[in-house]
Amino acid sequence: MTIQWFPGHMTRAKRQIQAKLKLIDIAIELLDARVPLSSRNPMVDEILSGKPRLIVLNKSDLADPKVTEQWIEYFKYEGHETVAVDSSTGTRIGDIPMKAKEILKEKIDRQLSKGMNPRAMRGLIVGIPNVGKSTLINRLAGRNIAITGDRPGVTKGQQWIKTNYEMDLLDTPGILWPKFEDELVGFRLAMTGAIREQILNVEDIAFFAVRELAERYWPALKERFELDTPPADPTDSDEIVRIMEDIGRRRGCLVSGGHVNLEKASGIILRELRAGKLGRITLEAPFPAAAGRPGE
Ligand code: G4P
Repeated sequence: MTIQWFPGHMTRAKRQIQAKLKLIDIAIELLDARVPLSSRNPMVDEILSGKPRLIVLNKSDLADPKVTEQWIEYFKYEGHETVAVDSSTGTRIGDIPMKAKEILKEKIDRQLSKGMNPRAMRGLIVGIPNVGKSTLINRLAGRNIAITGDRPGVTKGQQWIKTNYEMDLLDTPGILWPKFEDELVGFRLAMTGAIREQILNVEDIAFFAVRELAERYWPALKERFELDTPPADPTDSDEIVRIMEDIGRRRGCLVSGGHVNLEKASGIILRELRAGKLGRITLEAPFPAAAGRPGE
């Protein structure tokens, strides 16, 4: 789903989420574990301010596990409990209600001390498009629910979704906007597939991807595409194009005259990267030196 965000949409999205915060006990901020910064809404602290919050690093099956651990530490340092899950299979999603219960412990204990029977916790999942909000809701609920989300300008009645845990969720997740003004953020999101190719050109995204990978994950790139020599200077555009051409040749993306069809090669590179065929890759680390050294 591609949403064009305009200032009016942002204001509306913010208000819609803030109205929902009154109904819930805890906000679940969903990020993409491969790009925890780029998949974060720039105003999230302001929007969720004052509400208990759990950060969930989704798609952790595709991310470098060492760096994911560092992100969990980093967010803890920022004051937020964080868990890493894979919503596509449901791996570790039970950690979400478990941690939420810990975060809400005081409130639950207060209710118990007053002799009240605590009801199920109420949560709202928020995040930018494509981080996996619908997938996670379906996993927690254990069934497929048609989740539309509040698109900017569309309102409808709220309903609670019962999950397999002691937690109910609002049926429409809070859809936030990404940080647009930073070109790097756009390319990183595009690499993960969160920004469709109609917005950024496929060859440009693949160029950016190969450059990042050559710099940080050369062994993974080399192994997947059977490349020979690493670039002497990964910031040199000619060298990056040479690698893209090598990949194209290996995969038979040739046109007449023996030239490489770069568009086709770019499509292959991005498809395989997004499907995790190059291994578990994280593009952003809280401590920059840590990114791109899988298995250390
Ligand atoms: P959204 O509601 O936040 O917009 O995201 P959505 O759940 O639609 O998920 C976006 C894409 O991310 C989907 O793939 C979904 O399968 C995938 N996804 C969600 N969570 C995970 C995860 O933890 N790990 C992995 N590997 N993928 C995840 P898609 O290609 O758009 O659709 P589909 O081919 O799965 O149908």
